[in-house]
Amino acid sequence: MSQLFIFLRHILGKLNLYHMKIDFIKASFKDFENIEGQDIYETANEFQEYLDFLKANSHLNYRIESLTHVGPEMNLVLPGDDHPTWCVCLVSNDYLGFSQHPKVKEAVIRGIQLFGTGSGASPAIGGHFIYHQQLERKIAEFYKKKEAILYTTGYTANSATLQCILHRDDKNPDPNRNDIAILDMNVHASVYEGVLTTNVKTFLHNNLEMLEKVLKNSQDKYRTKMVIIDGVYSQDGDVAPINEIADLAHKYGAYIVVDDAHGIGVVGKNGRGVIELDNAFDKVDMITGTFSKALGNIGGYVIANPEIINYLKFQSKQHLFSTTATPAIMGILKAIELVDEEPEWRTKLWDNINYLKNGLIERGFDVGTTASAVIPVKVGDIPKTLEAGRLLLKAGIYTNPIMYPAVSKKNARIRMNVMATHTKEHLDKVLNAFTNIDQKLHLTMK
Ligand SMILES: Cc1ncc(COP(=O)(O)O)c(C=O)c1O
Repeated sequence: MSQLFIFLRHILGKLNLYHMKIDFIKASFKDFENIEGQDIYETANEFQEYLDFLKANSHLNYRIESLTHVGPEMNLVLPGDDHPTWCVCLVSNDYLGFSQHPKVKEAVIRGIQLFGTGSGASPAIGGHFIYHQQLERKIAEFYKKKEAILYTTGYTANSATLQCILHRDDKNPDPNRNDIAILDMNVHASVYEGVLTTNVKTFLHNNLEMLEKVLKNSQDKYRTKMVIIDGVYSQDGDVAPINEIADLAHKYGAYIVVDDAHGIGVVGKNGRGVIELDNAFDKVDMITGTFSKALGNIGGYVIANPEIINYLKFQSKQHLFSTTATPAIMGILKAIELVDEEPEWRTKLWDNINYLKNGLIERGFDVGTTASAVIPVKVGDIPKTLEAGRLLLKAGIYTNPIMYPAVSKKNARIRMNVMATHTKEHLDKVLNAFTNIDQKLHLTMK
């Protein structure tokens, strides 16, 4: 769609001369979910117009194609260009750079040489191999526990597990037939998906008073009560007070589940995440996480007591009826060892985190309360955030503009993920680019 048409459509829409249900300037992807009175093909057409509108304004900075591997620099085909450009990248969760580590690659190659490229079946009926068994044991031991179960992604580790263990009876409010999930409102989308078929209450992010109120009100009304939090929160990069939350949950007869997808390998002296930071190994009832971030591969896991793990192995549908991970996960066995064998990557990562974070703060940017490798720069509104993303890309800096529904509408931001493999030169380039865009967009508090 031409830029002129989109512009005219917008003006006509404003003058009520053209039927435009959604104001594209203020819209987010969420606005196109489940539109009243429109069938899915009409909705998809309107969504296509929105994508074209973003593209025409160089604001469709998603699904950018990279011609090179994950790294601190990537060769990208930028929107509107037909040739690639090298950019400094702050979009990868490969915090320790392990997806490119020679020893990890060697382990992946060895896995493929020994076992081929696929596992051939779901776990209960022929797809459970020695490397799955070893990985289950290794990730459990990493957290000083005995048993773990693997899922194909971190997303399903959350969604499938919660769906399997928590239930709601819409026809009968009897406490014996109803469970409840009590969520920190900032938990990941996979948790929200997992609790669609149970009762749900949310509490304000990290707000212990409100959590206690919810727990008090839930007493005697439910069969299983489960408090679900992240360790590191994926949009703000801040951490949960796990000890206090676990104590409250247990005081009111609830269990606690922690998803530390962004904490593993990064946070804690030995990279065990926020659970290590808080020394809460014995307090957390269930740990969920992913191999896709600091461990440089793909897949998810749940760690819990042996009976719960066995229950999930035979009752959790997305585990039971889905083919197991490929032999390439043998790379994860090595990556887990490297967390202990080469702590220098974590030291380098934290040098970089502190350098970028302090540089942004000195320049007056609002980075919130991050305490991890996720660094947000708060912008505030959607159009400004999209424009900031565009200007940064133009300056050769690849970041993620994050907006509703990932964060609330007034909390739109640029999000960056720092890696151990960034150099000071990369980070200086980022800081200079922020200084320059601030002159145009006035993002700082100065
Ligand atoms: C907190 C959190 N949990 C779970 C996931 C899902 O993990 P995966 O990408 O491995 O599916 C993510 C992000 O990807 C996340 O940020």
